[in-house]
Parts: sequence; C-alpha cells; structure tokens
Amino acid sequence: MKNFTIYGNPVVHSKSPQMHNAGFRQIHFEGHYDKTLIEDGNTLKENFLDKKIIGANITIPHKEIAFKNADKVKGIAKKIGAVNTYINKDGKVLAYNTDAPGFMKAIEEFEDIKNAIIIGAGGTAKAIAVALSEADIEITVLNRSKNKLDFFKDLGCTVYSWDDFICEDYDLVINSTSAGLKDDEYPTSIEMLEDILNVSNYAMDCIYGKMTPFLVKAKENGLVFKDGEDMLLYQGVLAFELFTGVKADKSLIESMRQGLKES
Ligand SMILES: NC(=O)c1ccc[n+]([C@@H]2O[C@H](COP(=O)([O-])OP(=O)(O)OC[C@H]3O[C@@H](n4cnc5c(N)ncnc54)[C@H](OP(=O)(O)O)[C@@H]3O)[C@@H](O)[C@H]2O)c1
Repeated sequence: MKNFTIYGNPVVHSKSPQMHNAGFRQIHFEGHYDKTLIEDGNTLKENFLDKKIIGANITIPHKEIAFKNADKVKGIAKKIGAVNTYINKDGKVLAYNTDAPGFMKAIEEFEDIKNAIIIGAGGTAKAIAVALSEADIEITVLNRSKNKLDFFKDLGCTVYSWDDFICEDYDLVINSTSAGLKDDEYPTSIEMLEDILNVSNYAMDCIYGKMTPFLVKAKENGLVFKDGEDMLLYQGVLAFELFTGVKADKSLIESMRQGLKES
C-alpha cells in the first residue's frame, strides 16, 4: 500500500482524503490518503521522508515553508513561492503548485477573460495572480490592507488598498479573501463591491460549498458565478495525476468530485 497525506494546521476539516481515496478506488490503485496535523512547518519534510509518504498535499499555513524546504521546486511554483504538493522521488522532495493550474481549469467555462480583479492578497491570491499573468490576463488586486501588495506590484498587477481604489471595467471578479467563510461579511465595503459587480461579467469565490454574501450580491447583479468547488477539485485532480501517473478522465474526475461530498 502506498501512503499519501495532507499536511496542515488545522487539517481536521480537509476533504482531500475523501477526494483522493475515491480516485484511488476508481482506478484500483493501492493507495491510502490520510491527514497529518503539523504544527511546526519545518518538521514537515522530515515527517514526509521518515514515514516514506509517496505524495502529499500541503495546506494552510505551511505552503511557503514547504516551498523553502523542498529539494526541487517545479514549474509555476517557482514564481508563486508556495507549494501545495510534494512527491517523493527516490528520497528527494519534488514540489509543485497545483492551485494555480487548478484555478485556471476552474474558470475555463468563463469565456473571453481579458482582465480580472482579485479581491484579497493572501497566499491564494498569489497563486491566482501568477496563473492569470501567465495567461496574459491583465490583473488588478484590491486588498483591505496595504502591506501585502508588493508581490503583486512586482508581478505587474495594478494594486489598490481600500483607501485608494479606482474602479474600472473587469471581465472577472474573484473573491480570494476569507470574508464570508465563517461570517457574513463582504470582501470590501458594500459600495465598492456594488461598483465592481456593476462593471463585471463573471464572479468566482474561492470559498466553496456555500452562497457567500459576495456570491449573493454577484447573483443579484446578474453575473455568471461559481464557488470554489472546482478550484479545490482540480488542484486535487492535478496532484492525483502526479501521485499516480494516471491521466484523469471525466469519470475519474466525477468520482473525485463525489468523494469531496462525502462526510
Ligand atoms: N477552493 C479552493 O481550493 C481554495 C484553496 C485555497 C484557499 N481557499 C480559500 O481562499 C480564502 C483565502 O485563503 P488564503 O490562503 O489566501 O488566506 P490568507 O493568506 O490568510 O489571506 C486572507 C486574505 O483575506 C483578506 N481578508 C480576511 N478577512 C477579510 C475581511 N473580513 N474583509 C476583507 N478582507 C479580508 C486578508 O486581508 P488583509 O491582508 O487585510 O488581512 C487577506 O488578503 C479562504 O477563504 C480559503 O478558504 C480556497
């Protein structure tokens, strides 16, 4: 049996085990995926290698430490500075970021996106901004506070905090804040949000499994919208392909989606 896990703190609510184990069952792969609570991110790599884990996902708050400690960082993760996937290659740790391509896959159904506004400037916003910039999509970032904006400025994004925001036209608006996750807050003031939604066509919330206040407003304003379920699913699907070497077809992806809905 090959062992896989997700590292995080907290990790108890993660649906990744259900999603990956459903995928393993579907392709009759001898794998088992569980959860590992890690408090000190610097112990993550040692745990991964000592326990002979074949592949792992990494979630909040360890993605940046996992990036720093990997033996080799692959692909788009080098620009993001954070990884969510480890692969054990003969005792060396290869690290990937599947959040960024997972996000792009999730917005595939949105047509003709030329520019986007990302609300929020945390780790998820970084992965999304790098993914969008690789696709030559013009990016604006709007965050509550100023101090996280340098990364985005260096990437070539137009950046604003709530104090100095000037609204333009956007094809896509993304909520990458945690506003609405455990509360009923909007990711900006209601006035700013109304201005943005008035000039946007599509809305995506990174939060999944609920109609957040942001999505409720997007719906009221007639935007085409979706939550973060596909983003979560596709980062998982892309990690699964790295874990197993099996290219996911439609039925495998649907099994993994059903896995996500298991309690
Ligand atoms: N669907 C998926 O696969 C997926 C994957 C990853 C994350 N997510 C979701 O994405 C969200 C962000 O995650 P993250 O890792 O980027 O978090 P993070 O690094 O902690 O960043 C949080 C961001 O949200 C902003 N924020 C927090 N509360 C706010 C509020 N009440 N009003 C306005 N802004 C607020 C913060 O602004 P300040 O800088 O001003 O504090 C910061 O920009 C979470 O809800 C998470 O669940 C979803």
